[in-house]
Amino acid sequence: MVSEVTEFLGRRGTVVDMTVGAGGHAAALLEAGVGRVLGVDRDPSALSVARERLASFGDRFREVAARFSEVDATTVGGRVDGVLYDLGVSSMQLDEGERGFGYRVDGPLDMRMGADGPTASDLVNELPENDLANLIFEYGQERLSRRIARAIARNRPITTTDQLARVVAGAVGRRPGGPHPARRTFQAIRIAVNREIEELAASLPQAVDLLVPGGRVVVISYHSLEDGLVKRTFRDEPRLTVLTKKPQRPTEQEVVRNPRARSALLRAAERVDEAA
Ligand SMILES: C[S@@+](CC[C@H](N)C(=O)[O-])C[C@H]1O[C@@H](n2cnc3c(N)ncnc32)[C@H](O)[C@@H]1O
Repeated sequence: MVSEVTEFLGRRGTVVDMTVGAGGHAAALLEAGVGRVLGVDRDPSALSVARERLASFGDRFREVAARFSEVDATTVGGRVDGVLYDLGVSSMQLDEGERGFGYRVDGPLDMRMGADGPTASDLVNELPENDLANLIFEYGQERLSRRIARAIARNRPITTTDQLARVVAGAVGRRPGGPHPARRTFQAIRIAVNREIEELAASLPQAVDLLVPGGRVVVISYHSLEDGLVKRTFRDEPRLTVLTKKPQRPTEQEVVRNPRARSALLRAAERVDEAA
């Protein structure tokens, strides 16, 4: 949703891109007249791709290796005019089998965006069946979570993404033409491994602290758990005025170009007060 991002954040002084990934949005912002972009990512390999892609912008781009929940005015060196989040996993991460994110590419059960914390294998093989079922239900919004958790518990140890995908498919069956039966389970485990909801809940209020009056925060999320959190935070934060009554969605043309954008929901808000 590059054009919506540049519409809300273009021609501003300094923008923090909390999820710089391969640097696509950062490049578009710099081209749209943003003075400086600070690109945050917890994945060192994403940062090296962004660094190379954005090298021609010189010192207008600076990278920050961190989880976004760690980013505050000290990290950034003062207040800023915009903050962007493009949440979730990147295509680069999904496509690299050895990172263990994908049910379509075989690899070890890892799913960590950074190098810290427990892996997917730790959760899948060590959580009690009931906790696993709750996690798959909550983060995957998967109705068949109990059946899936039971199949996982019976087939432990599970060490590869392919093995997990087959165990889940065996438990729930495959609908011809439908999405992969393990899609929701993989999403749930990835969200838990990377503590994605906790990261966002901790970071959004800090983003508001970072903004100058008139500064804007833009969030692109990919499922209703994230979008609900963004919606409530924007609505309940007295220092923000909401710029998007309803979340904006990608155009059909964008979805044709990039099928992963299909579920994207963009919300934007502006800081209205002077800092306390
Ligand atoms: C969807 S991609 C962003 C793609 C980027 N907008 C682009 O144009 O290339 C999300 C990125 O955010 C990073 N990420 C996700 N959660 C994070 C967190 N809590 N802290 C820092 N980076 C995070 C991931 O490692 C990934 O590289």
